[in-house]
Amino acid sequence: MSNDGVNNGRRRFLTAATSAVGAVGAVGAAIPFVGSWNPSAKAKAAGAPVKANVSKLEPGQMITVEWRGKPVYIVRRTTEVLEGIRKMDGEVRDPQSEEPQQPEYVNKEFRSIKDEFLVLLGLCTHLGCAPMYRPEVGAADLGGAKWQGGFFCPCHGSKFDLAGRVLKGVPAPINLEVPPHSYEGDYLITIGVDQEA
Ligand code: FES
Repeated sequence: MSNDGVNNGRRRFLTAATSAVGAVGAVGAAIPFVGSWNPSAKAKAAGAPVKANVSKLEPGQMITVEWRGKPVYIVRRTTEVLEGIRKMDGEVRDPQSEEPQQPEYVNKEFRSIKDEFLVLLGLCTHLGCAPMYRPEVGAADLGGAKWQGGFFCPCHGSKFDLAGRVLKGVPAPINLEVPPHSYEGDYLITIGVDQEA
């Protein structure tokens, strides 16, 4: 009986030790893998392009990626959202995107290469705070029925629509900036590399 007890205890110990080694091995293997996919911190600070795969982004959802130390917002827009943007033409300061706040290869109506994906620098054009994503149509605190979803800057109350166009009567003077970007296939966006004509 006592021998059995000892053996069992030893077996348990060996099992536990093996699992621990296994776990350490897995962590060790994961680090070089991650390292090979992400540009080094130094390269990022210097302005290396950043890739974002948006295939899993749900309609209406936003993700933020970092490029050159700045937040870049990517929103997947629905056809309802695009219709809402059209309704905002009379509420925004620069409806035709005449100010050079976007690369010339984006379409001027929705300020994007593909209507479905909005890519914007998440820095308010007033004093640089990060605007909040507020997609709820009719939000009572943002103008009620007129509000078709957009971005709200909590610092001094600037508002932008879901094309990043600034609304009239707020401190921010111009639209949010669309950074240079391009597509490889349907869903892989590279921030920092211009789309070729
Ligand atoms: S920094 Fe956004 S409103 Fe002032």
